[in-house]
Amino acid sequence: MGDLPGISGKLGYLADLGVNAVWLSPFYVSPQADAGYDVADYRRIDPLFGDLADFDEMLRKAHGLGLRVIVDLVPNHTSDEHVWFQEALGSPAGSAARNRYIFRDGNGVNGNEPPNNWRSIFGGKAWTRLMENGVPGQWYLHLFDTKQPDLNWENPEVHDEMESVLRFWLDRGVDGFRVDVAHGMVKAAGLPDWDGHSTMVSGDESGTEAGTDQDHQQKPAIDPPSPFFDQDGVHEIYRAWNLILKEYDGDRMLVAEAWVEQPERLALYVRPDEMQQAFNFEFLLAGWDAERITAAVDSSLAANASVGAPTTWVLSNHDTVRHPSRFGLTDPTTFPKGISAEDEQPNEALGLARACAVTLLMLALPGSAYLYQGEELGLPEHTTLDASVRQDPAFFRTHGVERGRDGCRVPLPWEAAAPGHGFSSAATVDGPAAPPWLPQPESFARCAADVQSRTTGSTLELYRNALALRSAHRLGAGTHEWSPEHQPKSGIVAFSNGAISVLANVGRIPVAIPEGARVILASGPDAISNTMLAPNSAVWITT
Ligand code: GLC
Repeated sequence: MGDLPGISGKLGYLADLGVNAVWLSPFYVSPQADAGYDVADYRRIDPLFGDLADFDEMLRKAHGLGLRVIVDLVPNHTSDEHVWFQEALGSPAGSAARNRYIFRDGNGVNGNEPPNNWRSIFGGKAWTRLMENGVPGQWYLHLFDTKQPDLNWENPEVHDEMESVLRFWLDRGVDGFRVDVAHGMVKAAGLPDWDGHSTMVSGDESGTEAGTDQDHQQKPAIDPPSPFFDQDGVHEIYRAWNLILKEYDGDRMLVAEAWVEQPERLALYVRPDEMQQAFNFEFLLAGWDAERITAAVDSSLAANASVGAPTTWVLSNHDTVRHPSRFGLTDPTTFPKGISAEDEQPNEALGLARACAVTLLMLALPGSAYLYQGEELGLPEHTTLDASVRQDPAFFRTHGVERGRDGCRVPLPWEAAAPGHGFSSAATVDGPAAPPWLPQPESFARCAADVQSRTTGSTLELYRNALALRSAHRLGAGTHEWSPEHQPKSGIVAFSNGAISVLANVGRIPVAIPEGARVILASGPDAISNTMLAPNSAVWITT
């Protein structure tokens, strides 16, 4: 499954790639019901991944290489195996132990109906009923899986505990936290019913929370405001955390994972006294579409400028179909919740060409860019994973309607020829090589890092070159300005950031490269022919 010593061993690769920070998904003690986003002990490492000494060693090594380390904090819910939840289960209704979570009596005859109509993000009801002394008792809220009970952020004890967890990791030297479901901790008073559509991804058209087409058709055009996401009360939490970070030396930071639709609402999370960054999902959701990319860049820059915070950019993560695969679909603006063998299979070559073009666009933008492991190898989604190996709770809770997120989480290939492509261990005294926790598709052999490292024109080389230039020209701290060539209606995206200009062809016909321009980076071997930029390509130019 990968572990902390494994990460330590690959930090040199990350430093060579040219990134300056690493965000790790949760490595805490966990039953792994949701890939570690179900934390049973916030202060210990799951034995799967090592121990605290391994963590300290990884952090020391990262800092030695000039890499900062951001850890994942999961404050909206714990695992049902967390000691607090276990205590709550053994305590009566109304007790202090229950009050750390959101327990309620049911509605209807004998309390047989859940307390409200909320649905889980992963499908099915957001409430599970306890059996108490052999009889059905209270219900508890879980916006995600049954094994992820929501904490009660009305309770000061919850604030104290999470602040102490922050300090635990800050004391160990972490540089920051990626705050999971940062928009979810506070719920509207009275937990009112809601007829909206509870998904983390807006604009999605492929999956349904309840797993039936009927529900899908019933989705209203515009959802009423959610009573469990983006409540104003969450900001108080971040103001308190901001002060805690300030007590520490260095430049510690918080980045919000907040699926908030309006950029103006998202900007509130990065006001000067709250978090430092928030993931900008509008850009990720724009797909291969010049007008939507333009709108996302404009609105994100404007919203962040209004609060004086840097913008972020991201194209893929552990919750989304990898962008080379999304961009290889017939409609490259769609946002499927996973892909399986029964679905349309992406055109890998086309998707990769477009992915490299959008990556060049992203890496020229001011602000912070987040890369997802393996995207520097141009890794596609695993689009034919068998149901028998899938692990994402969303797959099970929607009865497979949502294919789930396993396809983007398949371990990356380090070495083309090694067992598990160098991810899983070689044969041990105990037996043959252990297969990776999710099987790798055939295409991973040709994407392997060792092959790409020695191949001119590889995707890995493109990322290394782009990151080196981004750093040399300080593009992250630069200024964005649309160029005269920018014509999104014709599929042309063009802007400058200091001395570097970007020209991306998101359209269908070749586009002239401005006269006198010097191309310093091209998204692929076929990007330029004569003085024309081919469709599905991008270049960085200087004049
Ligand atoms: C966030 C994580 C996702 C997880 C969920 C519940 O969205 O990115 O992977 O399943 O929160 O913690």
